[in-house]
Amino acid sequence: MTIILGIESTAHTFGVGVVRDGKVLSNAKSAYTTESGGIIPMDAAKHHKEVAEEVYSESLNVARINEGEIDAIAFSQGPGLAPCLIQGINFAKELSRGLGKPLVPVNHCVAHLEVGKLTGTKDPVMLYASGANTQIIAYASGKFRVFGETLDVGVGNFIDNFARHVGIGFPGGPEIEKLAKNGKNFIELPYTVKGMDIALSGILTNLKQKFDSKKYKLEDLAYSLQETVFAMLVETAERALAHTGKKELLLGGGVACNSRLQEMCKIMCKERGAKFFCPERSLLVDNAAMIAFLGEIMFKTSSRPTPDFTRRISKKLLLPRSRSPTQKLEKLDIMPRQRTDDVGVDWR
Ligand code: ATP
Ligand code: FE2
Repeated sequence: MTIILGIESTAHTFGVGVVRDGKVLSNAKSAYTTESGGIIPMDAAKHHKEVAEEVYSESLNVARINEGEIDAIAFSQGPGLAPCLIQGINFAKELSRGLGKPLVPVNHCVAHLEVGKLTGTKDPVMLYASGANTQIIAYASGKFRVFGETLDVGVGNFIDNFARHVGIGFPGGPEIEKLAKNGKNFIELPYTVKGMDIALSGILTNLKQKFDSKKYKLEDLAYSLQETVFAMLVETAERALAHTGKKELLLGGGVACNSRLQEMCKIMCKERGAKFFCPERSLLVDNAAMIAFLGEIMFKTSSRPTPDFTRRISKKLLLPRSRSPTQKLEKLDIMPRQRTDDVGVDWR
């Protein structure tokens, strides 16, 4: 039996989750929100510091475990907002020192993908649509490869930015979805797919200009935004399925909560005979259960005795149980710009 604690703090959410043998026991969190305006990184970091202890206790209570039962502490090492990541790593290091347990640094984006296993995925193409990230990811030849991505902003940040412009607070996505349901007229917007990549900033400028002209209803703009941009995402995801020959599409990231995006993905999958997977909401948005889930896989892989153990990448990542965690703690740092395809994968 292995119990892994996960810590998430890449952006707006501070979360602590517990996973035991691949089963999520708890997924506690506290999210920073605003009435108007977007995320101020230093304020979000302050929020994380204030709520950390409380979220940690809640997570242990819900999981019905005590600190002594934790085998390792996994945390989001990147990518993310540096001030927020620092709160997470500091909290993780403190626990590691206090409990004498090793740390497992986890890539946030890969965790979004791997937690799909809880819904039954084996080898999916993932459409990862969150605030800061928009990527089409799949495992190929030893790594998670990025088959396509946004060339400028993430789709969630794009939606939040437009929402902010029209007076909606953060996060804007859920509100835009509600407005879109009442939209009736499709307004043509730029459609910018470039090869396998997409670009959103031109569409954002166009939307803002249209809104400011007062010639269009906000509901129609929200509806057209979703129809246009989600079609761009689905188009590139479909091409990644065709290129890789994979038969599973997994949705991930906060924007995946959008029911219209889910519907469009389902239609595409049905048409090409692929299976569609979408985790429940608590595992789609930023959460610590997915960090603990991938942390457990990495922890178990690194603990597995194999002849080439010394060469394993995870040896570099994990603090071996036999050594004092404090020996290497100082060397571990956040990786705010860590890319999905930089992650060494030795567990697949
Ligand atoms: P990451 O670090 O993975 O980039 P993130 O910090 O952006 O993640 P998530 O919780 O994955 O956080 O996603 C948040 C984003 O999801 C916000 O931009 C929010 O507006 C968007 N979002 C949430 N619900 C919806 C929805 N129903 N429709 C569209 N967008 C949504
Ligand atoms: Fe995320």
